[in-house]
Amino acid sequence: MAKEKVVLAYSGGLDTSVIVKWLQEEYDYEIIAMTADVGQGELELEGLEEKALKTGASQLFIEDVKEELVKDFIFPMLRSGAVYEGKYLLGTAIARPVIGKRMVEIAEETGAVAIAHGATGKGNDQVRFELTVKALNPYLKIIAPWREWSLRSRSDCFAYAEERGIPVPVTAEKPYSIDSNLWHISYEGGILEDPDNIPDRSMYRLTVDPEEAPEEAETVSITFEKGTPVGVNGQNPGPVELIMELNRIAGRHGIGRVDLVENRLLGMKSRGIYETPGGTLLTFAHRELEHYTLDRELYHYKEQLALKYADIIYNGQWYSPLREALDGFVDVTQQQVNGTITLKLYKGNVTVAGRVSPDTLYHQAMVTFEADELFEQKDAQGFINLYGLPLKIRGMLKKGR
Ligand code: ARG
Repeated sequence: MAKEKVVLAYSGGLDTSVIVKWLQEEYDYEIIAMTADVGQGELELEGLEEKALKTGASQLFIEDVKEELVKDFIFPMLRSGAVYEGKYLLGTAIARPVIGKRMVEIAEETGAVAIAHGATGKGNDQVRFELTVKALNPYLKIIAPWREWSLRSRSDCFAYAEERGIPVPVTAEKPYSIDSNLWHISYEGGILEDPDNIPDRSMYRLTVDPEEAPEEAETVSITFEKGTPVGVNGQNPGPVELIMELNRIAGRHGIGRVDLVENRLLGMKSRGIYETPGGTLLTFAHRELEHYTLDRELYHYKEQLALKYADIIYNGQWYSPLREALDGFVDVTQQQVNGTITLKLYKGNVTVAGRVSPDTLYHQAMVTFEADELFEQKDAQGFINLYGLPLKIRGMLKKGR
């Protein structure tokens, strides 16, 4: 009888290599490995198939989900304004649902009965993968070896691999855990666990050290249509290339580094370092354009929903009715978010250098300090009298009159 199949989220690193063997031993499954190409770079994808087959997988799917990640996940997130705890641009969190979605699709195509992943029992990623799978195909079994096996550390994994002749990745051991895609790189663990330590500058891969950035500032203009970025410096690359281009531009000016102690869903605080160069420019420019185009009440309300939207992404609830409903709201708000924002980049900093929009609500003749006909200054007095009435009454009572 043919073996049952499991689809494993595979990276080719030590953990997922060990998981291939472990799934065979513990469950006697046929292992279908899947690696999502989320823009982590050629280096991580090189030689992966050979490695997967050698380790015992029956096949490896390398799935290019970059365009889907950008169009269906990153851009909606950008339009929503979601930023977790004021700093984290959600680069790992936003990629998990698209990876989970493709795993479910492959499981359905190949007739697999289960899905497995190498996320640990302490982190957010297990929640993100599993909520995605439950939402998209609740009949798939989910296996998370880190929550089941007796291996407790990387050295346990090494020993397990040695005993069974599993080819161990030859790449130099990194002193921290890295997750990388086209939107960001995150670094956690190891020498970063002490929040009082800053990492060596050699850790960073997408950005130069701001101190080593050029002495000359550079300007870049980003064009949005309905809140979606479509142009950079007058060129219209596709969505994936647009982010890559902004990564290069921001990266050479040392823009987009974040060092954060954040609240994980499972209740603990963790320290993470992120590089999101292009994303930092996009988030900044998009917000600037909203300042320029959105009605006050709408913008203030949207800011509140953005906090919720960030929690939804962080906590793995992408495929939830609340996220879908919020997208309905966001869509309406973005109709007038059209125009071009020019940014100035200098040694790790971004500032705004220009705003153009056909849909701005900014009315120069209205706000001007010069003489104007539109605004009747004496109207302000009656407004303040009524607006301040509760404070005035309170003040009177306090004075005992
Ligand atoms: N703390 C971040 C988050 O929860 C990054 C997680 C990085 N994941 C990883 N497997 N290295 O989104």
